[in-house]
Amino acid sequence: MENIEFADRVKDLRGSAIRESFKALSRPGIISFAGGMPAPETYPAAELARIADDILTNHAVTALQYGITEGYAPLIAQTEARLAKAGIAGNRGDSLIITSGGQQAIELTTKALINEGDGIACEDPSFVGALNAFRSYNARLYPVPMERDGMDVGALERVLAENQRIKFIYTIPTFQNPSGITMSLEKRKRLLDVAARYGVFILEDNPYGELRFAGEDVPAVKSMDRENRVIYVGSYSKTVSPGLRVGFLLARSDLTEKVTVCKQVSDVHSNLMAQMMISAYLDGCDADARIAASARLNGKKCALMRDCMEEYFPGNITRTAPEGGLFLWCDLGGGVDSREFAAKCLEQNVAIVSGAAAMPDTSKITSAFRLNFSMASEENIEKGIKALGEVIKGYGKR
Ligand SMILES: Cc1ncc(COP(=O)(O)O)c(C=O)c1O
Repeated sequence: MENIEFADRVKDLRGSAIRESFKALSRPGIISFAGGMPAPETYPAAELARIADDILTNHAVTALQYGITEGYAPLIAQTEARLAKAGIAGNRGDSLIITSGGQQAIELTTKALINEGDGIACEDPSFVGALNAFRSYNARLYPVPMERDGMDVGALERVLAENQRIKFIYTIPTFQNPSGITMSLEKRKRLLDVAARYGVFILEDNPYGELRFAGEDVPAVKSMDRENRVIYVGSYSKTVSPGLRVGFLLARSDLTEKVTVCKQVSDVHSNLMAQMMISAYLDGCDADARIAASARLNGKKCALMRDCMEEYFPGNITRTAPEGGLFLWCDLGGGVDSREFAAKCLEQNVAIVSGAAAMPDTSKITSAFRLNFSMASEENIEKGIKALGEVIKGYGKR
């Protein structure tokens, strides 16, 4: 058969290394620091089983029918109330739509705003799922370096000054994927100020914000947005379950309306049963206490991982100190290609994610890599970090 000529939009897209690594994860004995999921022991399976049974017994017609594209009304109201509690009330003229995960909110926003060749400024490193969504619309990505307290806003300003066609700034300001870094309050204010001066939107992606285990809350950029400039994306993936695929978008109504039409041609509406399950869970299962417990568990595992690094890693390997979320970011330095390092780790039955996946510029070689601390057991965290330490020492690092 002849080769398929794929559309220009997608022909250079590569599967995310993270999703690829899922395949290796089924190997027996593998220790995975590669995924991005909450700890499996925190999934509210028993509650969701009871809820699903109740929905199918008592509300089957609603659950099994088509729903409206904007989402299940009670869940919209609950999500708005949760956001308001976090200081994210939305402005007059904002509205919220439920999406199939935060990923779809990012993709549909891109679809609604980006013409081929338009620019998106994004953190370097950033979330591969978003970067690939941007690439699939032939956006030009403008990397902005990350600092210890979030993106380098001075560099962002230079990028915006030099490139007229940038449409929005993509940021994950809280417990960033992949770095675990949180943007300081001062930088959040400057970010809003810079975006206003250059007349660009901010796409604030915040799936991890509720998973703080140390330090003080920093308000979402959206909570300080007085001019409907921030397009806010959230998700129930990291707080309830990623498999249910429920996220949301809060943005000015004209944009949300366009996203709604884009969603109609994509999947009509998000899975109604899943939305009803999340709604009932939020209503009757003390979800906040469970989210807090899950964050505490993550914090314990993160501390253990960092202690193990202290013990087993050579001294010159840098790593971030997240105050929440699911990831930390290490750098081997010295020109090591972390893709090769990840392959060596896999030979030792430890899965990690090379930082290469998180580079807006795919040709950039990086010595950095991402570790997830929520999924492995405490025993495997120690075993896995010890094994990584041995691989690192193989590079002659002390
Ligand atoms: C920064 C970030 N944004 C968005 C998502 C998408 O999550 P979901 O589509 O499951 O809501 C993820 C998932 O890993 C993420 O890390």
